Amino acid sequence: MIIVRNKAELMPILERQRVNGKIIGFVPTMGALHAGHISLIENSLKQSDFTVCSIFVNPTQFNDKADLERYPRMPEKDAAMLEKAGCHMLYMPEVMDIYPETDTRVFDFGHLDKVLEGAHRAGHFNGVGQVVSRLFDIVKPQKAFFGLKDYQQVAIIKKLCEIQNYQIEIIPCPILRETDGLAMSSRNMLLNEEERKAASLIPQLMQEAQARLKNAEPIDSVKKYVFEKLSHNPIYKPDYFEVCDANTLLPLNSLTIKGPSIILIACFVGKIRLIDNLVMN
Ligand code: PAF
Repeated sequence: MIIVRNKAELMPILERQRVNGKIIGFVPTMGALHAGHISLIENSLKQSDFTVCSIFVNPTQFNDKADLERYPRMPEKDAAMLEKAGCHMLYMPEVMDIYPETDTRVFDFGHLDKVLEGAHRAGHFNGVGQVVSRLFDIVKPQKAFFGLKDYQQVAIIKKLCEIQNYQIEIIPCPILRETDGLAMSSRNMLLNEEERKAASLIPQLMQEAQARLKNAEPIDSVKKYVFEKLSHNPIYKPDYFEVCDANTLLPLNSLTIKGPSIILIACFVGKIRLIDNLVMN
């Protein structure tokens, strides 16, 4: 695996791949890799000729300084995992390589960055848009792979491609879960033993909510049930629990029969904020 730390090194290597007709697949990450990330790499290896992974903890998408500081960083372990998975290139830039000057762009994502994560993390998606657009401009991939745990982020990135006119195929990949159902996330490693056990209530509640909704229980009543369950232990501090149209991400008052619905949750377990979702089948 080729490891590069700046775009001046990376761009000519990738240009040679493109000239030789190779399809470049890109997996942007913030590191602290787990099996979920590796599944993105595997998808890219299957669907493209040359797979590039980036590891960059993007400061512009953190609206909480403490969250940015505590974000796990383990570059050597990450590089070893990528090498083992067969990734072709790892790009690990410093902040100055991505932002030689401050990025002042403000994207208009319409309602998409005003609901759910957007409503609770001011400026988060604008920061994601800034970094992903800079990474796309540097890597110029034909395909890019993103995990569906960040369901709203995938919608934002598709919208970014429209706004910036990127001809990049965005490929959403399924959520990977631990044996107790907890969605894999780099943040899970920040949970202590008690919090890690408690975190499994999140996927459990989504499953229960799905069963109740399928049983024709009104959305409001299901929400009440979920918040009530989370209020039993002060370790939980829920930000939101919503049932939305899976295509528009607009909250639903009742289940639509027109298209798929999705349950989305964000909840602190101790100091760690976890998100998850379940597309209803
Ligand atoms: O999902 C992530 O890890 C990040 O938001 C991303 C897409 C790499 C941008 O920093």
